[in-house]
Amino acid sequence: MSDQIHIVEMGPRDGLQNEKTPVSVEARIAFVEALVAAGLGTVEVGAFVSPKAIPQMASSDQVLRGVSHIKGAEFHVLVPNEKGYDAARAAGAQIVSVFAAASEGFSRANINCSIAESIERFKPVLARAKADGVKVRGYISCVLGCPFDGEIKPKAVADLAVTLWDLGCYEISLGDTIGVGTPLKAKEMLRAVGAELPVANLAMHFHDTYGQALANLYAGMEEGVRVIDAAAGGLGGCPYAPGATGNVATEDVVYMLEGMGVNTGVDMEKLLAATNEVAGLLGRPPVSRVACALNAKRKRLGGS
Ligand code: HMG
Ligand code: MG
Repeated sequence: MSDQIHIVEMGPRDGLQNEKTPVSVEARIAFVEALVAAGLGTVEVGAFVSPKAIPQMASSDQVLRGVSHIKGAEFHVLVPNEKGYDAARAAGAQIVSVFAAASEGFSRANINCSIAESIERFKPVLARAKADGVKVRGYISCVLGCPFDGEIKPKAVADLAVTLWDLGCYEISLGDTIGVGTPLKAKEMLRAVGAELPVANLAMHFHDTYGQALANLYAGMEEGVRVIDAAAGGLGGCPYAPGATGNVATEDVVYMLEGMGVNTGVDMEKLLAATNEVAGLLGRPPVSRVACALNAKRKRLGGS
């Protein structure tokens, strides 16, 4: 399991989309700059969704334009429909993500349509992206449980993953949106999807509500999955996922991987600085175990 792992940093999008404290465009851009400087080469920086639904992601066009000078990194943005695609492209997006759900209840709550209707909305986005040479990532939410519909069958996830793949998504990110999964369930789900699609094109997007995210990632790595979504500081959550907490923290993932001999290319000190900076803006310390441990160590050693 010691081959390369690709981390997709979620902090500026999933991380901030549910925060009560507004974060300015300038601070969002600075957050992205700090994450890239820490060695995170793929960062999701915003979402072209309704600003009434997710005001925190308003002005994602300014954020995307504001990070375009950063070299050596790629930036992702969410688009739920053609309107979002138009706006993302006008701001220079080269990689966009569509997002579906494995459960009808979450699909309705999150994007106000059924799963089948969401696929119809994505079809023109994928077709236009193909013509424009734009890469499209596909998310599936609630792969290990739904706050409205309860248990989710692995086959339902696999079938939807195939649909998104057939539409042209280059990677399918499998989201435990409410963080209820456990390692064996995660394996079962990943095996079901991996039986249909190349494992190299799957990503794990695990929230850490029940403290299982690292264990679930390890289980997924045993199944051969090599792409991990994570958010600095363990930020994250979705207003339509009641009770869910943040994404698995990037620093926790990096600490685990480096301990396994995987070179992540991430500078932990710089990542911690980025995490602390945004936590300061939000007015509370970071929740991740590694950030807490390293900040406490700094204090013991007399740092600030
Ligand atoms: P709708 O109401 O079905 O859409 O919303 P509509 O076409 O009827 O439009 C309604 C209004 O939204 C109109 O404005 C549109 O112009 C506007 P109004 O006339 O009322 O002023 N609108 C838009 N505005 C900006 N950008 C757009 C856009 N489309 C329509 N692209 C819609 C459908 C999807 C737009 C809405 O439900 C929405 O924005 N939902 C937010 C979804 C969201 O961002 N959720 C959080 C991200 S997903 C997530 O966190 C999960 C993930 O992390 C993985 C995991 O953890 O599982 C990815
Ligand atoms: Mg998420």
